[in-house]
Amino acid sequence: MTVVTRAATDAFLYDQVTRHILDLVEKGTLKPGDRAPSLRGLSKQLRVSISTVNQAYAALQELGVLRVRPQSGYFVDAQVEGQQRSQPPRKTTVSRQPRKVRFGELFEEIFNVANDPEVVPLGAAVPGIELMPVKGLLRATQRAAARQPERALDYCFPPGNADLRYEIARRYVGLGLSVDPANVIITSGCSEALALSLQTVTRRGDIVAVESPTYFSVLRLIERMGLLAVEIDSDPETGLCLDALENAIETMNIKALVAVLNFSNPVGSLMPDAHKERLVGMLEQAGIPLIEDDIYGDLHFGEQRPAIGKCYDREGIVLTCSSFSKTIAPGYRIGWVIADRYRDDLLEWKQATSSAMCSLPQMAMADYLRSGEYERHLVRLRKDYRLQVDKMRFMLAQHFPKGTRISNPQGGFVLWVEMPRGIDALELLNRALREKISLTPGLMFSATRKFRNFVRINCGYPWDARIERAVVRLGELIADMTAEG
Ligand SMILES: Cc1ncc(COP(=O)(O)O)c(C=O)c1O
Repeated sequence: MTVVTRAATDAFLYDQVTRHILDLVEKGTLKPGDRAPSLRGLSKQLRVSISTVNQAYAALQELGVLRVRPQSGYFVDAQVEGQQRSQPPRKTTVSRQPRKVRFGELFEEIFNVANDPEVVPLGAAVPGIELMPVKGLLRATQRAAARQPERALDYCFPPGNADLRYEIARRYVGLGLSVDPANVIITSGCSEALALSLQTVTRRGDIVAVESPTYFSVLRLIERMGLLAVEIDSDPETGLCLDALENAIETMNIKALVAVLNFSNPVGSLMPDAHKERLVGMLEQAGIPLIEDDIYGDLHFGEQRPAIGKCYDREGIVLTCSSFSKTIAPGYRIGWVIADRYRDDLLEWKQATSSAMCSLPQMAMADYLRSGEYERHLVRLRKDYRLQVDKMRFMLAQHFPKGTRISNPQGGFVLWVEMPRGIDALELLNRALREKISLTPGLMFSATRKFRNFVRINCGYPWDARIERAVVRLGELIADMTAEG
């Protein structure tokens, strides 16, 4: 999957320069008002071209981190505060009791506002459609429809369009995997891939392990399917704590693990490859299937596309779920699952629940992937998401109260924000919604209703004045809540 093009390398170098300056500012080595290294000096020091440094400095100006003074060079903006506050949230420790999950109207409320154009979209993890390859995909759709108009209108039965399954399988070659297209089952988004996977490997009353905090739709599925969730500690950088999982496996009858190993939602953690290998080995030994959700895997900020759990899967126990919802078109609803030893069972679930799928979007997606445009699009998209995440981190650090801790994801586009204790994220949501600003309160990411002082912030939209005003306003609302006690 890693096709390192010249453009990708340039984007990576430019990113490194941006990161380098941000690190210096965050650590306090460069203070507000200090002069930043000269273009020439930094280009020599980091062995990159002057134009790369220039490009990075332009982005840093846009972020509000650097200011240019004519004839004097670049300076750290006087408004940039020391970044003690943007430390990552603390490692989570949870009580390891399997629990029933209960969600109420909260879920509905978050989704109701997600489609309201009047609301500033900091809630649901939704990408700005302007970042999606709208023209390229529409061209592919027209080509596909013109080539086979009858087929475009006909039923397409599971496992789905053969060309698309081939294109998806081909993308795994870059990860050293040889995926048989027959083993790829097309689903309606990653959501259906996760639901079918859980249906296939569990029965009502079973215990399912999840990372804590975890993506709330997984908790919702667990609730609706009458399963029990056991939450496993996680580290903000490396994800699921394997010792904690091992301990849970020894003490209870876990039937499946659902986890996002690459850029988890909401934390953005990235599990190191060595941990992935140990994780899969541990699960193989215990006979527990891993449902891995790799929806953010292509959105890495570093140079390398991270490996997936399936890379270490010798016995076919990993069900890899993903979709193009965060990268190409959420509305096409194209997801998939590679289910290996569970493939036939899963296919039966798919046939039983939705006997056929939309044809044209699958044909169009196959055409789009075949055209080679996706790699070029991804290079730009990763850069955009990274800039948006960086900008949001900076703005939150400026406007949220002292003591706020913010995740520092290496991919994806959500931020996990730990506010000082006593600040109730649900109350903040209520006040924010009255002003048409959305966010996701932390308690949605746990069956135990932890994370009451946490929020998840979506950075999927290009930065603009409306988003900036919303962040400033959230800071004011929190200040009001603190003053009211
Ligand atoms: C981790 C994770 N998995 C799955 C999904 C759902 O994906 P889809 O829209 O493809 O169903 C999301 C969307 O926010 C997500 O963040």
